[in-house]
This record gives sequence, structure tokens and C-alpha cells, in this order.
Amino acid sequence: MNIALIGSGGREHAICKTLLKSNKIDKIYVIPGNAGTAEIAINLNIDYSNRSELLKTIKNKKIDLVIIGPEEPLVNGVVDFLRSKKIYVFGPNKYAAQLEGSKAFMKQLCKKNKIPTANFKICNKKDDVESFLKKSGMPVVVKADGLAAGKGVVICKSKKEVLKISNEIFLGKFKSSNKCILEEFLSGEEASYFVVVDRNSFLFMGSAQDHKRVGEGETGPNTGGMGAYSPAPIITSKIEKKIINRIIKPTLLAMKKSKNPFTGFLYAGLMIKNSNPFLIEYNIRMGDPECQVILPRLDTDLIDIFMSSVKNNLDKIKIKWKKNKCMTIVLCSKGYPLKYKKNKIIKNIRKIKLDKNSIIFHAGTKFLKKNFFSIGGRVLNITVLGNNFDKIRKKIFKILKKINWKHGFYRKDIGWRVIKHR
Ligand code: AMP
Ligand code: GLY
Repeated sequence: MNIALIGSGGREHAICKTLLKSNKIDKIYVIPGNAGTAEIAINLNIDYSNRSELLKTIKNKKIDLVIIGPEEPLVNGVVDFLRSKKIYVFGPNKYAAQLEGSKAFMKQLCKKNKIPTANFKICNKKDDVESFLKKSGMPVVVKADGLAAGKGVVICKSKKEVLKISNEIFLGKFKSSNKCILEEFLSGEEASYFVVVDRNSFLFMGSAQDHKRVGEGETGPNTGGMGAYSPAPIITSKIEKKIINRIIKPTLLAMKKSKNPFTGFLYAGLMIKNSNPFLIEYNIRMGDPECQVILPRLDTDLIDIFMSSVKNNLDKIKIKWKKNKCMTIVLCSKGYPLKYKKNKIIKNIRKIKLDKNSIIFHAGTKFLKKNFFSIGGRVLNITVLGNNFDKIRKKIFKILKKINWKHGFYRKDIGWRVIKHR
């Protein structure tokens, strides 16, 4: 089979590498890809938002399946477009993609279907904000309704701050929407729960815990994710049953009733409070860097999972997992998630010898004149499989030391919940 994979992050490098384990794959084209995917597949530097160019490429390269990594093309309806051209594509349609693309849509769905989530108010103007503030204590979480590249959530400690942040959103800070959502603050432990979905059923696709803040001790601004591990021990089988019955099943049923059944990866961002799961957000794709710790643990051919989903045969397969644990630490450009420099050479990658349980997934990298360069905020994902998170993390640190990239930094406390000592 020939595959087109859209995206350029660590997630897409992980998907690409995992697919290549299958003997059913002929060629993988990554659009646009990174230096890691260039080593193992074929990068195509085309603009995937240009639909006619995308279609032409899919036809020319005789693509059998298109896999969409990031949310933005999904929210913009690339799946509807490709399906209308009779092309197999993995991911939700534009309507279903609102689960991530509009927080207002997601929260209304929760309310209508009694899915546990933080109390909220959808606000279009200052009066709406003031009426919510009258009834709520602090902190209050202010969220942009539409996609905001990870910058749309602010946890506010004062009413003044809530008014300021919400006003910025009303004035058009984010192009995707002028609405904002105010939410009650939930305390607890966060975890990510994944399922793969077709029109009729769904299967477990792993659990993980991410570290979203840039600084050690969960401090500083939010990022795309600084490191993750899988599985998430907080999700016991008892809690998993609650996640499935209270959150996943009612969501999928509601989408089916809307005549837009969800298909693809569904990622539930959860807060676990007193052994009860609350939905914080839905993502309609694999997480990044969660994907990089889930896929190395997979013991089933990934292409069978994708094809079973697009052909609505998921009920006919079983997904198997290795007993191993997996962790990744993200090596970032200094300054991320604020201002950082690009085009910095990463000299030592090539010198590093990795055993079969260690992988470096590339994210913001490019390959030029025989060298690797950084071109993004999150640059490399150092990933190790093993039996013990403490030993895994030590092994990751050793690799990071060898990379010794002076333009980069990483969090040294990834996995603090599962590694109690230092
Ligand atoms: P989101 O984009 O909705 O996942 O929000 C980003 C991050 O903000 C989450 O991973 C949480 O750490 C935090 N967050 C969002 N909503 C809440 C909430 N209602 N209570 C506490 N923390 C929240
Ligand atoms: N790591 C968080 C996300 O992919 O949204």
C-alpha cells in the first residue's frame, strides 16, 4: 500500500516509523514531514491546504490511504473533501472535528448528554462574563472557543484578569472565533485516554500523561507538551470503566445521532478527581508527544488499525500492547514556547548509537547539506521503552547528554508522578 501522511511533528515521525514495521506498506509520503521522516520515507514539500494540489499528488502517487496527523486540516474539512473524491482517509469529518475545533460545541454536547466536565458559560460579551463571575469563586479558566495553537487557555486568579483575557478574545485575538468559555477550575491529576473509532465501534488506543507547562514543577506557560509517558497508572480499570461509560460512549452516541459519527483517533484530556474522571478537552487526533510513547508499545500492525477504522471493521480486530512502559522527553529550542532561534545545527545526532528500545523521533528539524538543523520549538523526542520509569528516564538523560545541544533545553522532571525520588 502507498500512504500519504499529513503533518511534520514527532507524532508523524512516530506514525511513519510504526507503519514501516508492516510488510503491507510500499511507500509512505509525508506532507511535508521533517528530517526524521526524510530518512525513512519520502517527504513532499507541498501545501496540503491547497486542495487541488493535494488531490493531484494523491492521484499521481497512487495513494491508498491518507492519514491526517494534526487537528487543523481536520477542523478545516480535509476529510470531507477527500471522501467526496472517493479516497480512503483516516480522521473525523468537519462536523465531528468540532469536538476539538470548538470548545463551545464540545461543552454543549457534554451538557446535553450529562458528560462530566467543569461548569461553564459560553460568553459572547462582557455581560456574559460578569454574570458568570457573580456566581463563581477563583480561579476561573478562560478558554478561546476555536483552535488557538495551545495558547487559548488561561487560568485566572482574579476577576480583573478574567475580564482582560476574555475581552482580548472578544476583540479577535484568535482568528478562529470571538467567543470564549469560562470554566470552573478543576483540581486533580490529568491524564490522556485514547480510542480509535469507526462508525460502529471503538477500541482502546493507549493512555498517557503529558507535561504541558514549560518549567519543572509544572510552572511557566503552557506548551504543546514537554514530555510524556505511557501507560498512565492513574487510569485503573475501575476509572477506565467510568471514562468509557460516562464520557466516551455518550459522546460517540451523540455524534452518531447527529448523523456525523466520529471516526479516527479520539483523545480525551481528563482530570481525575476523587477517582472520578472529568472531561477537560477533546482532541480529534493522536497527542503529541503522547503518540511517541503509545506507538512504541503497540504490538498490532498499525496499518490494520487504520484500515479497519476506515472500512468500519474495528469490531473484527484486537489491539495488542507490549507490557513495557515508555517515556519521551522533548528537547526544545531555548526560549520555547516564547521566542526562540531557528536554523541551529544539531551536530551530534548521527554519532549516537541507539539500542532497540531507544528511539529519537524528530519534530522541528530539517536536513540540509548533510546536517540536521532545528526549525521549530520542539525539536527532538528522546524516547525509551523499558520496565521501570526511573531506569528509562536515566537512559533518556544519557542520550540527551550525548546530544549535548547547546541551543536546547529539556525538563528534567518528566515522570515526577511515577518516579517519586530524584
Ligand atoms: P485545554 O486546552 O482545554 O486542554 O487546556 C489546557 C490545560 O489547561 C489543560 O491541560 C489543563 O492543565 C488546564 N485546564 C483546562 N481546563 C481546566 C479546568 N477546568 N480546570 C483546571 N485546569 C484546566
Ligand atoms: N500533548 C497535547 C496535545 O497533543 O494536544
